Amino acid sequence: MAMSIYRCIRSVAVICALALLASATTVECEDNTTAEGLDRELSDMVLTTALGKIRGTLLPSQAGRNFYAFRGIPYAKPPVGALRFKPPEPVDQWFDIFDATFDGPRCPQPGLYRDDVSEDCLRVNIYTRDLPTEKEPNVKKPVIVFIHPGGFYALSGQSKNFAGPQYFMDRNILLVTFNYRLGSLGFLSTGTEDALGNMGLKDQVMLLRWVKLHISRFGGDPNSVTLLGYGAGAISITLHMVSPMSRNLFHRVIVMSGSVTGQWPLPMEQLDLATRQAALLHCTTENLADMMSCLNSKHYLEYANSLPHMFEFGRNNPLILWKPVIEPDYGQERFITEDPVWSYQNGNFMKVPILTGVTKDEFAGQAISILENPRLLQTFAHNFEQIAPICFLYNADSPRSPNISMELKNAYFGQESLEYAGALQPLVELFSDALTGFGVHRFVHLAARSTKVFYYRFSYQGQRSHIYYPTNKPFGVVHHDDLMYLFVEPSVSRMFTEDDEEFKIVDKLTRMFTAFAYKGDPNKQSDGKLRDIRWRAFSFKRQHYLDIGEDIVLREGLNLPRYEVWKRLFPLNWKRQSKHDLLDYV
Ligand SMILES: *[C@@H]1O[C@H](CO)[C@@H](O)[C@H](O)[C@H]1NC(C)=O
Ligand SMILES: *[C@@H]1O[C@H](CO)[C@@H](O)[C@H](O)[C@H]1NC(C)=O
Repeated sequence: MAMSIYRCIRSVAVICALALLASATTVECEDNTTAEGLDRELSDMVLTTALGKIRGTLLPSQAGRNFYAFRGIPYAKPPVGALRFKPPEPVDQWFDIFDATFDGPRCPQPGLYRDDVSEDCLRVNIYTRDLPTEKEPNVKKPVIVFIHPGGFYALSGQSKNFAGPQYFMDRNILLVTFNYRLGSLGFLSTGTEDALGNMGLKDQVMLLRWVKLHISRFGGDPNSVTLLGYGAGAISITLHMVSPMSRNLFHRVIVMSGSVTGQWPLPMEQLDLATRQAALLHCTTENLADMMSCLNSKHYLEYANSLPHMFEFGRNNPLILWKPVIEPDYGQERFITEDPVWSYQNGNFMKVPILTGVTKDEFAGQAISILENPRLLQTFAHNFEQIAPICFLYNADSPRSPNISMELKNAYFGQESLEYAGALQPLVELFSDALTGFGVHRFVHLAARSTKVFYYRFSYQGQRSHIYYPTNKPFGVVHHDDLMYLFVEPSVSRMFTEDDEEFKIVDKLTRMFTAFAYKGDPNKQSDGKLRDIRWRAFSFKRQHYLDIGEDIVLREGLNLPRYEVWKRLFPLNWKRQSKHDLLDYV
């Protein structure tokens, strides 16, 4: 379902009529059909900012309230030509009116988006119900900045297909979504000045600096910024919390289904991946200078289309292919300067209020894609020692690796073969714990020593899901299934309405997250819809988490026996052994 766009060029009367038709809810709109009124409305939709004028549009929220949308605004110079593989640069002022009435392009990625992707993709979208006016100059709403998921190689902040703002626009916040560079174009790291890595993450920093400077013009409060990230976006947030570049650019965090604090170590470069990319694009890999000039000459669509061939096993293992890197020091501004887990252990992180958790069945998709394919399953079962580190993200080069693989197999499968009939559930749990659960568990424990953490498990099972298996029913509550109650994602579900059971979850989630954005606490007794929810912060003694399902209940000790295995295999003082990992914990 394409979102209908009511361009302001149409008369105010039309806008009001459509909004009223869309919903029985009262819409505040002015009955001004005179030419003078139209002009006023037109100019209302053009916002003058320090960077230039921006034309926005009015859209209807889920409940049919009008909100302002400014989409596709460049927040950095296009990272093209000499700027490819380089940190982002601030955008220049413009002199025309920038047309922000539709989504900007997404960053290069594979799929059927040819006319919708561009390397000039560093764009921000801003949504709010109220703009400052001469009469009301002091609009100051809490800001929620959404950092999109997609494994650092897919998806976007676009409104039309993935990050529809209609639910959040029934809450009193300002929402920001945006794109950052993906894949090789966003993360190539040679360990030399040619490509230092972390470009996509530095894009995020640039966006946060942009928000600090410009968001008050849109009625946002630069001193109340909540980061909301999912998957790779959540991993990003756990990095912003330790990065010297992101200090003081945000005030609260919502970290959903991802964290950098798991078992996988960050490398200092990924030259092996750069070389693999170069070979796929028919570039020489003999010497770095020639390889780089060849990589610089390739069209962005060649990068996008080669993505499926970058993976090592099955459709998309390892799930996190491009990793953030601990940057070598060439005098540049470095995003990550030491192992992030070390920073957390030493209390070296932004101690902001945290809301974090996982879904009940997270990475069922990874498990099913192996079990469904007999050839893949056989390879997996017969070469488990070698393939497990790829799938479950640990270091294959470490002498401990074969022992870790066997310990994991014993813990999840006992004496059973990987090909036995009941393999689905243990494999779902193994993938889930490896790719999100354990990292989030450790994040909660590291952070809760010095700040407030609200921990959840999302187990609400609606009609729609990202995975239907083995029949046309949802398999469970998998990765991204909770996002569908925060953002409208038309490829997965139409927008829920008051008539849908699911709407109760939309309503509760957006209310709790908004309360958290206001004051760092998702509880709000004065809100009738939240009155029955008592979400206690995590304590080491009780290990509280909120189980968000059909019922919303406080429970204790999420998946503890499962995570014990990982804690034993990857202790915090574990001496990392890869040639890439120069930092020792001991
Ligand atoms: C319509 O516009 C006129 C002129 O700008 C203004 O005085 C009047 O208040 C507006 N009408 C309404 C209903 O707001
Ligand atoms: C792994 O190593 C530990 C410690 O050396 C040992 O006790 C354990 O039996 C090994 N596990 C397997 C499955 O080989």
